[in-house]
Amino acid sequence: ASRRFFVGGNWKMNGTRESLAELMTHLNTSNLHEQTEVVCGAPFVYLDLVRSGLDPRIGVAAQNCYKVSRGAFTGEISPAMIKDCGVDWVILGHSERRHVFGETDELIGQKVAHALENDLAVIACIGEKLEEREAGTTEEVVFAQTQVIAENVKDWTKVVLAYEPVWAIGTGQTASPDQAQEVHHKLRAWLRTNVSDDVADSVRIIYGGSVTSLNCRELASQADVDGFLVGGASLKPEFVDIINARA
Ligand code: G3H
Repeated sequence: ASRRFFVGGNWKMNGTRESLAELMTHLNTSNLHEQTEVVCGAPFVYLDLVRSGLDPRIGVAAQNCYKVSRGAFTGEISPAMIKDCGVDWVILGHSERRHVFGETDELIGQKVAHALENDLAVIACIGEKLEEREAGTTEEVVFAQTQVIAENVKDWTKVVLAYEPVWAIGTGQTASPDQAQEVHHKLRAWLRTNVSDDVADSVRIIYGGSVTSLNCRELASQADVDGFLVGGASLKPEFVDIINARA
């Protein structure tokens, strides 16, 4: 399959005008493989700044959005507003949204549907917790999360699926290449059975969880690993090495 390699940076709740300007200069002046699609997830308040500061070849993502266009929802941001800032992507269902802020599968599904209807592309995140992996329920958990996302997607060309085992996020405990490949392969098989051959062959399934410049190449060489969603390392110069992980 000829899936374009995809590397997302998720800056989470980090950065200042000053530090992001420095990071953007680094990205704009580095040699990034043309064949890699790069998207940076910025905090809401910096979306405008980041969209105007990054080279147009680099995409920008919001890190969340709400499920309706406007109204009395204090503190929320709509896909329409994100689009209005010139931003084309949103990260949804991140484990921190699920587990720190209590977002349910149902709410995430509604957000996915509304974001896609408003022409935002979606990085949809799934992943099992440590106790779920230890209980042998990884597949069950990620299939159930994927099912709810799938029920809300009509156009899969606008979706990237991010597999992020919760135990690997921000812990330095990266999934091994075999562990990542095993789940990615099963997710692709799930898409084949439950959506279509075409979607299974074309959807990028990216890995997230303690990806660094040291472990990215071996992970990127796995058949079903089509890129990364990078947290901590996306704020550092080494993000460029991760973008260029696939030779
Ligand atoms: O969205 C990114 C993931 O949460 C991974 O974060 O690279 O800091 O482990 P991390």
